[in-house]
Amino acid sequence: MKTKVFYTILFLCISAQASASKGELLFKEYCWGCHHETSMAFGPSFKQIANMRNSGEIISHIVDPKNTYKQLGYSRSVMPEFKNFSQEELQNLSDFIQSFKD
Ligand code: HEC
Repeated sequence: MKTKVFYTILFLCISAQASASKGELLFKEYCWGCHHETSMAFGPSFKQIANMRNSGEIISHIVDPKNTYKQLGYSRSVMPEFKNFSQEELQNLSDFIQSFKD
């Protein structure tokens, strides 16, 4: 029983990590100009985002920032929307962002 729990947890950790590393590639291609991992750029750092938001909030903002910026406390919205990511890619990006949580 304990072994089973151990392997399940191990599997979840490995898959979250694999997902986050796919997210890192997407991040470098599409987000790097405006967001840096730990320092403020044009947009907030991923560390700041990870400490404030859950995965649902992160994914909604990537897909439709014009619809979520007010709810997140911004007075204007300059981030472009990214409508072409698959559900899996959105999850990869969210896992990557959340890997910066303190
Ligand atoms: C042209 C610059 C730009 C690009 C490119 C960009 N962002 Fe943003 N992002 C911003 C700015 C500025 C904000 C602040 C709110 C706004 O303007 O919508 C923001 C806000 C966010 C937020 C919400 C912040 C919060 O307070 O929780 C998330 C999540 C986010 N961006 C993720 C991404 C991801 C993932 C990508 C790449 C797929 C990306 N952004 C690409 C500029 C950008």
